[in-house]
Amino acid sequence: MKYVKLGNSSLNVSRICLGCMGFGDSSIGQHSWTIDETHSREIIGRALELGVNFFDTAIAYQLGTSEQYLGRALRDMAHRNDVVVATKFLPRTEQEITAGIDGKQHVLNSLNTSLKNLGMDYVDIYIYHIWDYNTPASEILEGMTEAVKQGKARYIGIANVYAYQLAKMNALAEKMGWAKFIAVQNHYNLIMREEEREMFKLCHEDNIAMTPYSALASGILAKRPGEKSLRQERDSFMHFKYDSTAQQDSVIVNRVVELAESRGVEMTQIALAWLLAKVESPIVGATKIHHIEDAARALDVMLTREEINYLEEPYVPHNLSGVMAVNKPAMKEKPVWVAAASNR
Ligand SMILES: NC(=O)c1ccc[n+]([C@@H]2O[C@H](COP(=O)([O-])OP(=O)(O)OC[C@H]3O[C@@H](n4cnc5c(N)ncnc54)[C@H](OP(=O)(O)O)[C@@H]3O)[C@@H](O)[C@H]2O)c1
Repeated sequence: MKYVKLGNSSLNVSRICLGCMGFGDSSIGQHSWTIDETHSREIIGRALELGVNFFDTAIAYQLGTSEQYLGRALRDMAHRNDVVVATKFLPRTEQEITAGIDGKQHVLNSLNTSLKNLGMDYVDIYIYHIWDYNTPASEILEGMTEAVKQGKARYIGIANVYAYQLAKMNALAEKMGWAKFIAVQNHYNLIMREEEREMFKLCHEDNIAMTPYSALASGILAKRPGEKSLRQERDSFMHFKYDSTAQQDSVIVNRVVELAESRGVEMTQIALAWLLAKVESPIVGATKIHHIEDAARALDVMLTREEINYLEEPYVPHNLSGVMAVNKPAMKEKPVWVAAASNR
């Protein structure tokens, strides 16, 4: 395994992050394809053996059971100080808004629930999962800053965000003396490269780490055409993310297959070797032991400039998909950046 320092933090993380969205109780929550605790533990254990120390989960994943499985596995198989755990919170619910729970309190309540799920007293990175258009940005940042002050989060991160939003948030944090985002978790892989437009430059200039999700396009960049799985059958969100561009993307997927064959490696290794040349630590999902083994072996592959160009050449700009396609402001009013209470 190789390790990297994450942006403006002291965290030293493996260059492969194990994504835990596929772990959790499949009878509850968003996904019906997730794997049970026994199988999740096997993958987490193998990841630890391979030197993976970076784990990504969320309160949203299978109603907290992903956090619970991860927490229990790490408690049994690792020392807390040797692993880097990231989890995320969702936007405020309608009920919270009606009950008068502000953004700051929402962040702290969510974190307490996540810590309980994980059985931990702190997380290493607390991530703003989905932009909350109904809550002033300053309330979210105040909550996250308070989490850091209380020692419940070492650093903060953000996901599913435009570069302008991240730049404004960190500028606000700087002005107010609040915690700044050290890492961004957006959708980026060989067949979804819109991050290169603006986010790359912001992260490079401000030393914000990139830890992208769906590194293998939810399996499209890892499976030979025709290879089936339960997830492919049942994950409607994955189909929503990728089906409309499948035809144009297949040119790139075929090039991944071709390079994998010519080098005698797995497709995963080619797709991740490309991403590892661009970002600090891609987040990879695994539902089988060999998935995390193949991901770790991607670090053995160094693509040539010609191979990188060959993989990149067919890409044409894509519309945003997934969370970024559906999360839009509900109201016509301008978003509120600074709540009245913080405007001092
Ligand atoms: N912030 C966000 O909004 C957000 C959104 C999505 C994901 N995430 C994070 O990112 C992580 C990864 O996301 P993801 O699951 O969409 O992406 P991914 O890493 O692109 O895809 C993972 C899937 O690829 C397949 N796979 C992996 N290795 C393989 C191999 N060697 N051979 C064949 N198939 C292989 C498996 O599919 P099968 O299970 O079908 O075999 C696995 O479920 C999540 O666990 C989560 O932590 C965050």
